[in-house]
Amino acid sequence: MTVRLLSGKPIADEIKAEVSAEVAKLEFRPGLAVVRVGEDPASSVYVGSKVKTTEELGMYSEHIHLPAETSGEEILAVVKRLNEADEIDGILVQLPLPGHVNEREILEAIDPAKDVDGFHPMNVGRLSQGQDALVPCTPAGVIEILKRSGIEIAGKNAVVLGRSNIVGKPMAMLLLQENATVTICHSRTRDLASVTSQAEILVAAIGRAGFVRGEHIAEGATVIDVGINNVSDTSQAAELFSEDDMPKRLAAIEKRGFTLVGDVNPKEAMGRAGAFTPVPGGVGLLTVAMLMKNTLKAAKLRRGI
Ligand code: GUN
Repeated sequence: MTVRLLSGKPIADEIKAEVSAEVAKLEFRPGLAVVRVGEDPASSVYVGSKVKTTEELGMYSEHIHLPAETSGEEILAVVKRLNEADEIDGILVQLPLPGHVNEREILEAIDPAKDVDGFHPMNVGRLSQGQDALVPCTPAGVIEILKRSGIEIAGKNAVVLGRSNIVGKPMAMLLLQENATVTICHSRTRDLASVTSQAEILVAAIGRAGFVRGEHIAEGATVIDVGINNVSDTSQAAELFSEDDMPKRLAAIEKRGFTLVGDVNPKEAMGRAGAFTPVPGGVGLLTVAMLMKNTLKAAKLRRGI
């Protein structure tokens, strides 16, 4: 059986084109504010991509970069100003925040109507009750990949590996809303492979490089890999990547010190899955596209459109 690769790029491009076309028709410019605190290198890359895409789609972008030692009160004051700013429709505080800051307190201070990350308890509650809500971008992107790839969700056995507030829990809620039969697995799940190998749709979001092996995957399953992990060890790379893929991976390790791998062992998934999202080039690209879609949605809702 040949595996179908579910590439994120054409789907992300399609969503961004839809947002851009709608933005062009509006009589105002939706605005997104991104707040970054400190110097986390991954956050710097992600925020750069969010700011650039916002501008490319014709929206207004405000990037607030604060020093690592900024107090929680100072961050709260920034959030309060953005809550009140009429030109701002979406507010995103990039995580992780520095250790001395209470993340929950900051996220709960964001106006739920501007909460384009969907992390505010009001939006979490609305999602869990099946009401219209601003929904976390990465799991919403997974649903778009499935739908736009013509993969039926209703009635399927879906297993979500991971129970984070950012991905696992909202992912389970969205799959449930699409009428899948949903199981959530985590570090305390007994005999994990016996559960995951029942999945017709398997979503991996645990943050462990290549953790999902062939034995975890049912023949022909759709496997969605949400993980983004760095691999710098060449012998670990040989366990994860096919011979065809290795030269490119080794070149990346040589050049940058690491190559990216998801939570699924791609070499083994290729031999079992019916469809599979690559890393890089899969789910990751959807996150920014869905943030743009959420910003447009928040802008329209806030102005009663
Ligand atoms: N850090 C990693 N993923 C995310 C995300 O989706 N939103 C925010 N705000 N921070 C993140």
